[in-house]
Amino acid sequence: MIIAIDGPAGSGKSTIAKKVAEQLEFTFLDTGAMYRMVTLYNLVDSQKLEDEQTIIQSLNKINIKVVKNHFYLNNQLVDKEIRMDKVSRNVSYVAAIKEVRNYLVSLQREIAKNNNCILDGRDIASVVFPNADYKFYLNASITERANRRFKEQDKQSLEEIKQDIKNRDMYDMTRKESPLIKVADAVEIDTSNLSINQVCKLILAEVKK
Ligand code: CDP
Repeated sequence: MIIAIDGPAGSGKSTIAKKVAEQLEFTFLDTGAMYRMVTLYNLVDSQKLEDEQTIIQSLNKINIKVVKNHFYLNNQLVDKEIRMDKVSRNVSYVAAIKEVRNYLVSLQREIAKNNNCILDGRDIASVVFPNADYKFYLNASITERANRRFKEQDKQSLEEIKQDIKNRDMYDMTRKESPLIKVADAVEIDTSNLSINQVCKLILAEVKK
């Protein structure tokens, strides 16, 4: 069985998907983390991003492994590094490259192939698994989403985070390759005023219907 969860930054996808996966004893795959790994690899001197051709070529040198929601880039654990704000600021550019998407989408399908799997991302219901058994689109107000991210860190101001999220959403929603969309048959949940448990309950109720 495949459960697809899409939505913009900070809508609660990963937190919720992880919990639902625990409850259902499903594999959880955070596809955003995979785009973050390719981005991390391509940050020169860990600051400036490589050009598009170099990023595409880097796919031959990259080995991505996901083991129980831990992320290994060429056998190095990068759980913390992929969440750095310089990665967040550059990931949408990398994720808009067709070759990068083709590479990661096949990897995602391969990982999910023989498992009951819940995946979260931007194009899960539209591209990766258009025939998913259940599709959800999580959303929340920009203020709430920025607040959530603000509380997770201590480096950026609330305003900076809000601007970063807005820019990233705009880029993700308007790109040519697999833009973030809500597919017609997805159940939309506005998580602005809901607790993590409340959202999990709504999803589990749909899945158990
Ligand atoms: O956790 P957060 O919502 O901040 O982002 P993420 O899920 O880690 O995804 C980071 C970025 O990767 C997104 O802003 C997209 O540009 C890209 N992404 C994508 O294009 N397709 C996916 N299936 C997942 C992420």
